[in-house]
Amino acid sequence: MNTRIKTDLHFMALALVSSFAILLLGASVAVADDTRKYEAEFNADGELIRPSGWREWVFVGSPLTPNSLNGGEAPFPEFHSVYIDPKSWKHYKKTGEFREGTMFAKELTLVGATAATSGIGFFNGDLQGFEIAHKDSKRYPKETGGWAYYTFGHKPEPYNNTAGAMPTAACAACHTAAAAEDMVFTQYYPILGVAKAAGDKGAGVGGKD
Ligand code: HEC
Repeated sequence: MNTRIKTDLHFMALALVSSFAILLLGASVAVADDTRKYEAEFNADGELIRPSGWREWVFVGSPLTPNSLNGGEAPFPEFHSVYIDPKSWKHYKKTGEFREGTMFAKELTLVGATAATSGIGFFNGDLQGFEIAHKDSKRYPKETGGWAYYTFGHKPEPYNNTAGAMPTAACAACHTAAAAEDMVFTQYYPILGVAKAAGDKGAGVGGKD
């Protein structure tokens, strides 16, 4: 074999090896992304640890109960940005049910401006609190549907890192009385309704079918 061919072969082998390495690297990055389990974690005192990355969960709705429509004093005068963890979203799309382990996150945002170039209205202001609803019938056997409720502070960031479950009367009672589906206010989250009707198909995620 002459040197020229040898060198070419050498380069080809190198190129092959490096593209394989790049492929592997890509795969490991993808796998690293998929290793998030979206399961609730607790500290030694049984307090829920604030999950990280909830702003990357699936956004399902943004109810708003402003002071100005509630005699100047709403219990929660903020926008309520509601998210479901991606694993439970997937399960819900397939089965129409909230799996054991489901977490809903609700982040509160104050009303900021009340006028913009788009018109008079309510516009998101500063962040003002964070809450979680968690379904786990084994962990909370006495709670309706196995749901417990946590608040990490009704205040600006930084939110508390951990929270104990709230007493049933403080949170769950109102959900039991008025939520449409398994303690969740699905009547205010049209995205969940669309997903349920579409099952695993594209419409549930904004596709056409
Ligand atoms: C007076 C009734 C009432 C009480 C009390 C209440 N909630 Fe809710 N909650 C609602 C309504 C209505 C919604 C629907 C969306 C919205 O308005 O925020 C909701 C939605 C939620 C959600 C989003 C998922 C879902 O179930 O729809 C979480 C999380 C949540 N509440 C946590 C809490 C926590 C934590 C407490 C106690 C500190 C609490 N709630 C007390 C009425 C209530």
